[in-house]
Amino acid sequence: MVGSTGSGKSHTVAKIIQRAVESKGDFALNNSHVIIFDIHSEYRPAFPTANFIDSANLVLPYWLLNGEELEEFFLDTEANDHNQRNVFKDAVIASRRANFTGSDDDKAKIHLDTPLLFDIRDVLDHAIARNIEMVDNGEVYAASNKEKAGQPKLTQGGLFGRLTNFVNRLESKINDRRLDFFLGEKSRTITFEETLRSILGYGISKQHNVTVIDLSGVPFEVLSITVSLISRLIFEHGYFYKRLRCAANAEEKINNDAPILLVYEEAHKYVPNSELSKFRASKISIERIAKEGRKYGVTLLLASQRPSEISETIFSQCNNFIAMRLTNPVDQGYVRKLLPDSLGTLIDKMPAFKQGEALLVGESIALPSVVQIDVCLPGPASNDIPYWNLWREEWRDLDIAKIREEWVGR
Ligand SMILES: Nc1ncnc2c1ncn2[C@@H]1O[C@H](COP(=O)(O)OP(=O)(O)OP(=O)(O)O)[C@@H](O)[C@H]1O
Ligand SMILES: [Mg+2]
Repeated sequence: MVGSTGSGKSHTVAKIIQRAVESKGDFALNNSHVIIFDIHSEYRPAFPTANFIDSANLVLPYWLLNGEELEEFFLDTEANDHNQRNVFKDAVIASRRANFTGSDDDKAKIHLDTPLLFDIRDVLDHAIARNIEMVDNGEVYAASNKEKAGQPKLTQGGLFGRLTNFVNRLESKINDRRLDFFLGEKSRTITFEETLRSILGYGISKQHNVTVIDLSGVPFEVLSITVSLISRLIFEHGYFYKRLRCAANAEEKINNDAPILLVYEEAHKYVPNSELSKFRASKISIERIAKEGRKYGVTLLLASQRPSEISETIFSQCNNFIAMRLTNPVDQGYVRKLLPDSLGTLIDKMPAFKQGEALLVGESIALPSVVQIDVCLPGPASNDIPYWNLWREEWRDLDIAKIREEWVGR
C-alpha cells in the first residue's frame, strides 16, 4: 500500500484488518491472525481489544537472536575484529552450556545460533577477564630481584588490553535502561514459549486475532534488530509448524491452519531500498518472508509513503497493491508499471485522489479500479489536525515542564 502523507493509508490498513477480524455476520473470521508493527502508536484506538504490546510490557529475549543478529547487536561489526568475535562466540556458547540442563549429547550440539538462554553478564565477565589476563609462561623472576627472585613471572595474555572497546560497548548496552525490554532481568527469565505466545496473541487464557506491537518507545538503534527478531520468530514458527503437521500426516495439504498476516506501517523504515548496515537485520528477515513466507502461512502487508524507498525485492513479490494519493512522478512510475498500457491514464488521476480514495491493482481484483475506502470506525490515532479551527481559538497555554518530563523522565 502506497500513498503520500495524509492520503489515508493508516485508516485503510485499519479498515481492512477490522474486516479481517470481524467475528459476527456473513464475513465472520474467527481464526484470523494479524500482527501489526505500529511505529507511531496509532493503532490501539482502532483495535481496543487487541493483544497490545508496547515498550512498557514488551519483553524480548536477546538470547533468541541468531548468530548474525547477535554479532550485529553486540559487536562493532565495522571494526571486523576477529579477537572480539572469537571471545564473544566462546563466551556465549560456554554460558549456554552452563545454563543447559539436558543431555550431554544435546549440550555438545549447542552453537551460536541455538535459541537457548545465555547470560549476557557471563559474556561481559569473560571479556573483562580476558582483557586483563596475565599468563604464566614458565618464566621466573631473576635473582637480582630481591623480593620476588625465583617466583613465577606472569606476562600479559595475548588479548591483554585489546578488548577494552568491546568491554565498554557491552557494559554500556547492559546498563542502558532503554534496552531493558531486551537485556533486562525479564529477558533472562521469560521462556521461549512465553515469547512466542505473546507475539502471536496466544495468551494462555485469552485469544487475540490482532496483536499490536507499538514500537514508538523502542530506541531507533535497536528498531531494526527488534523487528527482525520478531519477524524471524514468526517465520520460523510457520516453518516448524509445517514440519510438525507434515510429520503427523504425510498427506497434509495445508501447511498452516492458523496463517498469519504481518503488517508493517512505514515499511521504508525496516526494509528500505538501501544497503546500510543498520537496516540489514530487518531487511533479511522481512525479505525472506516476502520470498518464502507463502508456503508457511506467513504473509505481509506493507504500507509506505514512497514505493521508490522500499526494497525492490519486496515490491516485486507483492500480489496486490493499494495506491492512494501520490504526487511524485518517480513514485507514480512504480504504480504505472503495474498497470496494463490501456489503463495507464489512471495514473494521471492519482495526484487528485481524495482522502481514502485508492487505486486497486492485483490478483484480488479482476480489473484495476479506483475505489473509495469506507471510513474506519473506530479509527487509528492518525487524524488530521484542524489547523484553521485551532488557530482561531484563544492562545493555548502549554505545560512545557510536563512535556519535558514525558520526554526525558523525572
Ligand atoms: N476512507 C477515508 N474516508 C474519509 N477520510 C479518510 C479516509 N481515510 C483517511 N481519512 C482521513 O485522512 C486523514 C489521514 O489519514 P491517514 O492517517 O490514514 O493517512 P496516512 O496515509 O496514513 O498518512 P501518513 O503517511 O502521514 O501516516 C485522517 O484525518 C482521516 O480522517
Ligand atoms: Mg499513516
